[in-house]
Parts: sequence; structure tokens; C-alpha cells
Amino acid sequence: MKGIILAAGAGSRLYPASLPISKILLPVYDKPMIYYPITTLLLAGIKDILIITNSCDIDNFKKVLGDGSSIGVKFSYAIQEIPKGIADSFLIAEKFIDNSPVALILGDNIFHGFGFSSMLKEVGKRDFGATVFGYQVQDPERFGVVEFDKNNKAISIEEKPKNPKSNYAVTGLYFYDNKVVEYAKTLKPSQRGELEITDLNKIYLEKNQLKVEILGRGFAWLDTGTFESLLQAANFVQSMEINTGMKIASIEEVAYRMGYITKEQLLKISEKYKQNGYGKYLEKIVNL
Ligand code: G1P
Repeated sequence: MKGIILAAGAGSRLYPASLPISKILLPVYDKPMIYYPITTLLLAGIKDILIITNSCDIDNFKKVLGDGSSIGVKFSYAIQEIPKGIADSFLIAEKFIDNSPVALILGDNIFHGFGFSSMLKEVGKRDFGATVFGYQVQDPERFGVVEFDKNNKAISIEEKPKNPKSNYAVTGLYFYDNKVVEYAKTLKPSQRGELEITDLNKIYLEKNQLKVEILGRGFAWLDTGTFESLLQAANFVQSMEINTGMKIASIEEVAYRMGYITKEQLLKISEKYKQNGYGKYLEKIVNL
């Protein structure tokens, strides 16, 4: 399975904070925002990742992440010039996908919760149909909304409905089989001029090939779209990390635990950050 991170938005809702650099590279507590979606893909067993950015930010992403070899994975880059929608990612990434199943995650989506790693491991092995994740929210009209029947089977998906049929938002993490590019090519732009991911999910739903995994109450799906929610996300990460002594979304730790890099490689990376707690943490986990 391959992975795509869509990190192309202008981030204008966070101006002027995101004027100097892409919102997706702003820190969420102790690491750039993109570390969180990268971790999600790594935990799904995905090592070949395409990062879609806009043209003015691509060099910054390359500076932060490089080609991925230092953590034993492969990062490549593509540009989305005009924001044509989430599903446009599959047209941009057609060559990269090359008939493989693929996961897509939005660059500002932060997931954290017990059991998520094992769920991702499972979903990452699926090569038929599509899988999305439903999460209960207070304001479903801001999202794609999924409706379930009595047996918890998804029966409808609507994009930003005025009268939502449930409180379950579809999160920004999607897994598809190798038909996704073919289906994405059939989409027409919506009223807001975008190729909607919800329309793509509807194709799978109509074919009875859409699985919706529920992320339960103890789970955190964090928003980073406003000044307040960005700070809240940082506070959440800080509080979890201080309470548990474990870091959320350290890509170096995850790469090590997944067996992509050795102890020696991790220690070498830790030296880069030895003047702070991040480096000390990496050093510590080698000895756990
Ligand atoms: C997009 C999708 C929506 C999904 C949301 C998750 O919304 O269109 O279906 O629920 O991401 O973050 P947008 O960011 O385009 O408003």
C-alpha cells in the first residue's frame, strides 16, 4: 500500500501565523504538524509516501523531511497548483499510485487513541474496496457526514449537509483499492468547484464496498483549523506526553519501532536534538 499526504492548502484561516510557512509545517507542541499524519501512515505499514504541496512550500517540506531515507522510508513530492479538491490528489498521484492500493491523509489531521495502531495495521492490509473513519462531533454540518442503519452499516454520505442525518463526521483519512484513480477520473467538480472526496466515497458506498470504522469516545481526532484549535491540539499533545512520558507522533520513534531503522540509526538522529527533550527521549527509548 502507498500513502499520500495532502498538504497543499494556503492555510489562510491561520493568517498571519501561517504566512511565513505552510500551516502543515507549523509546530503542534514539539514537532511540525506533518509528523502526525506521517505517523498515521507509518503505523498502517506504509513506507512509500507522496507529499502534495503548493509550489511555494515544496522546498520547505523537502528541507524538513528530505527523501525519508534517514528513517528508512521514501518521501516524494508533487505540487497541486490550484486547490481543486481532495479527490484531485488521485489524479496528481496517478503515476505514483501505479495500480497499488493507496491511503490518503489530510496534512492537518491528528489522530490519537488506544487501539488505533492495531486498527491501522489491519486496514493497511485491505486491498479491496474503501475504508473511512467515522467520529462523533458536535458540528457535523462542517464535514462529510455518514449515516448508519440499525446494524451500524453505512447507508449514506453527504458533504456538509444543512440537516445532518447523524453526528458522525468522516475524518480526513481514507484507504482505497487500486480502482481509485479510475473512479476519481469520473468525478465532476462540486458547487464549490472541487473534486469532492465524499463523491468518491459515494461511488464505493453504492457498490457496497465502503467500510466505515468507528473511532469511539475515548479517541482524539483533533482539528487545527483555527488559532484556538491549533493551540488546543498543542496543549492536548503536551498534556498526554507529560502524563505518560511517551511522545505522540515522533516519526523517528515509530520508524524504529516498525523496524525501519536500527538502534544505531535512531541514536544518530537523537544527537541532532541532544540539546532538548526530544533528543533525550529518542535516546531513552533505545534502552526501554
Ligand atoms: C474535508 C472533506 C470532508 C471531511 C473533512 C475532514 O472537508 O470534504 O468530507 O469530513 O475534510 O477534515 P474540507 O476540509 O474540504 O472542508
